[in-house]
Amino acid sequence: MEAVLLIGIQASGKTTFYLERFFRTHLRLNLDMLRTRRRERLLLAACLEAGQRFVVDNTNPTPADRARYIGPAREAHFAVIGYYLDVPAAEAVARNAGRPGKERVPERAIWATAARLEPPTREEGFDALYRLRPASDGWEVVPLE
Ligand SMILES: Nc1ncnc2c1ncn2[C@@H]1O[C@H](COP(=O)(O)OP(=O)(O)O)[C@@H](O)[C@H]1O
Ligand SMILES: [Mg+2]
Repeated sequence: MEAVLLIGIQASGKTTFYLERFFRTHLRLNLDMLRTRRRERLLLAACLEAGQRFVVDNTNPTPADRARYIGPAREAHFAVIGYYLDVPAAEAVARNAGRPGKERVPERAIWATAARLEPPTREEGFDALYRLRPASDGWEVVPLE
């Protein structure tokens, strides 16, 4: 059983990464889609109860945001894996500008999340944690100790 947390500012590439790596195996929890924390809580509890692998596809910028999932997942004996998509805000802003109108977010929201973001650490309860940086052919992956 595995819980995957994505961490990254808007337009860093989280949903693309989910689709490429996890679409076939992991249920996706995404607050933009679910709209309310209540729905998210219910589906998180359902995954944990059922032993269903899932990915949290939210920005998750602070330890408190991440603790919402890490604590319950560990209690349910899920391995918790984190992927920190470390994309410069200016690059995310540029990617955002290239999205279709409905998917575009206000630029200031990206800068605001970038300012709040605290890079994740293993001490938060991750069993494995990776930092992803943009590379010429996808991502450069660095395991964080
Ligand atoms: N590895 C990548 N390199 C360059 N552009 C990317 C990469 N992954 C995603 N993108 C582009 O960046 C934009 C945002 O991606 P998306 O996955 O929707 O981000 P998020 O879910 O974090 O908001 C999209 O236009 C997408 O095509
Ligand atoms: Mg997304």
